[in-house]
Amino acid sequence: MQIVTEPRQMQIIAEKLRLNRQLVGVVMTMGALHEGHLSLVKLAQESAGTVILTIFVNPRQFGVNEDLHRYPRPFEQDVALARSAGVDYLFAPEPETIYPENYQTTVQCGLLAERFEGAQRPGHFNGVATVVTKLFHITKPHVAIFGEKDAQQLAIIKKVVNDLNLDINIVGAPIVRENNGVAVSSRNIYLTSQEHLDASVLYRGILHAEKRIAEGQRDLFNIAEEIRAMISSTPGFRADYVEFVDEESFEPRKTAEAGREYRLLLAAWAGTVRLIDNGRIQV
Ligand code: PAF
Repeated sequence: MQIVTEPRQMQIIAEKLRLNRQLVGVVMTMGALHEGHLSLVKLAQESAGTVILTIFVNPRQFGVNEDLHRYPRPFEQDVALARSAGVDYLFAPEPETIYPENYQTTVQCGLLAERFEGAQRPGHFNGVATVVTKLFHITKPHVAIFGEKDAQQLAIIKKVVNDLNLDINIVGAPIVRENNGVAVSSRNIYLTSQEHLDASVLYRGILHAEKRIAEGQRDLFNIAEEIRAMISSTPGFRADYVEFVDEESFEPRKTAEAGREYRLLLAAWAGTVRLIDNGRIQV
């Protein structure tokens, strides 16, 4: 595995890979690699001959009161994990090379970026879209894998790629869950052991939605209310949003129609830690 830190050097390598007719896959991360990231690498290896993994804690997607400085950066451990996963190139730039002095350009997302996570974290998705677009231009992939855990991020990246005519195949990878259903996330390390156990309430909420739909309930607003109550009755937990959106448009939906697919989006506070999860709901 070759470690690259300079954007220009990465571009030259990526260009050569393309000239040599290599199919290039990219997995973008902020490091602190876990099982979830490794499942993205595996999917990239199944879709492409050469895999580039990027590690960059992107300051532009953190709000002023967010955890940029305490975000975990176990670089040596990440290098070892990436190497044993068979990554070909690890691109790990310094912030100054991605955002040099007098950097000014931002990818401005539309309405979708203002809802759900965007309402809670203003500017977050513009920061994500900007860095992802830059990393696309630096790594020149044919295919890019993003986790379905961040379903809204995935929908926004697909929109950016479509709106800006980027010739990249975006693939969503299924959520990796712990035994009790808790979605694997870098932020789980901030949970106490009790919160970690109780965090399964989000997954239980998804299972509850599947059950209610199977029973014939079509009032999505009502199901969401029931899930909100499940979260609020968990000590130390507070629901932020629980909403169903159309799987295609990501528009909020209150009533289910037969034959359609929805995505249930959930966000909750476990003490001071914010958790998100989601599930595809087939009616
Ligand atoms: O999902 C993430 O880890 C980040 O938002 C991403 C896509 C690497 C952009 O910084």
